[in-house]
Amino acid sequence: MNDMRSGNFRTFDPAREAGAEPPQPRGNSLRDRIRRAETAPQPAAPAQPDSAASGAAPSPSGYVHQPQPGPAADPAPPPATAPTPTPASTPASAPAETLARTADAASPRLGEAPPRPSDSVPRSEPRPPEPVAEDEDSSENAALPLGVVLEISGAGSMIAIDLQRLSECADDKDPAVAMAGQVGSQIKIRVGNSWLIASVRNQKQDRKAGSILADIDFLGEGKEEKLTGRLFGFKRGVTRFPVPGAMVYPASTRDLKQVYASDGRSAVTIGKVFPTKDIRAGLYVDAMLGKHFALLGSTGTGKSTSAALILHRICEAAPEGHIVMIDPHGEYAAAFKQTGIILDVSNLQMPYWLMNFQEHCEVLLTSNGNDRQTDADILAKALLKARQKSRLAEQMSKITVDSPIPYLLSDLSTAIKDAMGTLDKATNSAPYMRISTKLDDLRSDPRYQFMFSGMLVADTMKEFISKVFRMPADGKPISIIDVSGVPSDITSTVVAVLSRLVFDFAIWGREGRTTPILLVCEEAHRYVPNEKNADGNTVGTILSRIAKEGRKYGISLGLITQRPSDLAEGVLSQCGTIISMRLNNDRDQEFVRAAMPEGARGFLDAIPALRNRECIICGEGVAIPIRVSFDNLEEIKRPASEDPSFVELWSQAGGEEDIVERTVTRWRSQG
Ligand SMILES: Nc1ncnc2c1ncn2[C@@H]1O[C@H](COP(=O)(O)OP(=O)(O)OP(=O)(O)O)[C@@H](O)[C@H]1O
Ligand SMILES: [Mg+2]
Repeated sequence: MNDMRSGNFRTFDPAREAGAEPPQPRGNSLRDRIRRAETAPQPAAPAQPDSAASGAAPSPSGYVHQPQPGPAADPAPPPATAPTPTPASTPASAPAETLARTADAASPRLGEAPPRPSDSVPRSEPRPPEPVAEDEDSSENAALPLGVVLEISGAGSMIAIDLQRLSECADDKDPAVAMAGQVGSQIKIRVGNSWLIASVRNQKQDRKAGSILADIDFLGEGKEEKLTGRLFGFKRGVTRFPVPGAMVYPASTRDLKQVYASDGRSAVTIGKVFPTKDIRAGLYVDAMLGKHFALLGSTGTGKSTSAALILHRICEAAPEGHIVMIDPHGEYAAAFKQTGIILDVSNLQMPYWLMNFQEHCEVLLTSNGNDRQTDADILAKALLKARQKSRLAEQMSKITVDSPIPYLLSDLSTAIKDAMGTLDKATNSAPYMRISTKLDDLRSDPRYQFMFSGMLVADTMKEFISKVFRMPADGKPISIIDVSGVPSDITSTVVAVLSRLVFDFAIWGREGRTTPILLVCEEAHRYVPNEKNADGNTVGTILSRIAKEGRKYGISLGLITQRPSDLAEGVLSQCGTIISMRLNNDRDQEFVRAAMPEGARGFLDAIPALRNRECIICGEGVAIPIRVSFDNLEEIKRPASEDPSFVELWSQAGGEEDIVERTVTRWRSQG
């Protein structure tokens, strides 16, 4: 779309940056030690996977390997050379949906540590465009150490990475090995007969040794398959730490497949794990929705499209789901025409009497300070009177100003006027007039008819709830509430009413079967703003409450925002899963950092450098922090948020008068 050759615009061809060559390695002791480890003919050589028991002996490099518990090792001294690929008939190509196929976690094909030349499984000829699973078997780089552990502490540790090995790996055809050692990449460390997986948090130069020092965060550990040395059965958390001197290896795509394989819980897949070509990234639905989620990212990074993608996948997996999406820009109607219902001012028909007293105040009171309290008292009395007049009220033992009981707007108006009539001369009638005038305004203004229409007096509460909460879902589990046409002075009240209905429905329904509801809120910073931007709106209060207590009642909150630092304090930390796309602003990054778990730090530093459509996910919804490139979402499922092409549109002439004419007409008629 952005054809830069349109009109008078030139294409821009950036010159290649000079000096981008990887640093040249110098001879250094780390390198020697690694080389010695690589070529050592002893079973203790760290590159040899079946040296399960060999670690007890100090390696020839001088590093002490982890003492190996367990059964005696297979003492066969493996050759130091990498396996030669032979054109063979076998191994199945990489599974496209690794995540779905967890059960065979123990399968030796799924996770592999340094390959053994003696491995009896025939290899296929490496073919670059083919799935990585085949290629990686022949990756010599994956079998050779990359560095060594220097220091250990609880959550992480420091390693030294050999510069030359780093640049050798950078050329590897397995993208996971090619990334190994770089910030945000994964590496593995052998401990006893298991493998630790860690992510690289940062890098700094060690001038003296001529190598690179890096802090790493441990992600979890997997067992080592006895015969092949491959990783399997990966679990989050670490039970046994390495000792300084343990060798560090690149984690290959095969290893990562094991790491990111689903643990059997229901998941939806949304993209690929970076940097691999074929590992599917999944979100555990129960864990993600059970503790709320936040989707963050600067403008244009792809939040809305990613939100649509995630919701589409959830809807496909849960056709009987109940999802309510608050859509302030009217973007999502385009995305969910087929799988959801679209409610906007033309068909929302939200009865005014569903508002509680606070929400009535927000809409009907125009005064501030002491006057506001006076007006609120008057409104409370009149509202109660109006509600009590309802036929429904006769059957009820108790009615309050908050009861969702239909009343006539004319009854409310009359109640206010009656109260004014009983005043003595000395009492100021201005408060009564203020409320009365505002009420009349709302009743007569066509823009408010979706809510303040005399036609909405019928008791439609059950129908309204069924429609909005998709009960039954009828194959359309999501309702898009397009509030873009709602007059801005009451938008936040409309969102408040809808959110509170979700909450109240869950509270009053807790006796029976729980019906979980997901409430997704775009531009969440508008509705749950921080103290600085707080305007005391009821919507902030109810959304914060849902964030804190919703989980207990089966309500899940999905907050989407480009300004996490403007969200109310504490709301972000209530989100168990954080999906962060690129964030350009320092303050926003800080906020996300504070809300994310410690182990995700290596990934966090990548946040400012993410490409569009890429994200970091951490928390409950994923086994370990994960960098994902989202799938391409089909055009008909995308929200209507396409970036306009200035170049293209500014190159076309004609039809301008019509455009202005049409716009002005619609503007004037407010439709
Ligand atoms: N997964 C995807 N598949 C296809 N297109 C995508 C994907 N993600 C993003 N895009 C494209 O990127 C552009 C911007 O995406 P989007 O509108 O979702 O960004 P945003 O972060 O929501 O922006 P804003 O903050 O302005 O709302 C759109 O043109 C969209 O079509
Ligand atoms: Mg958006």
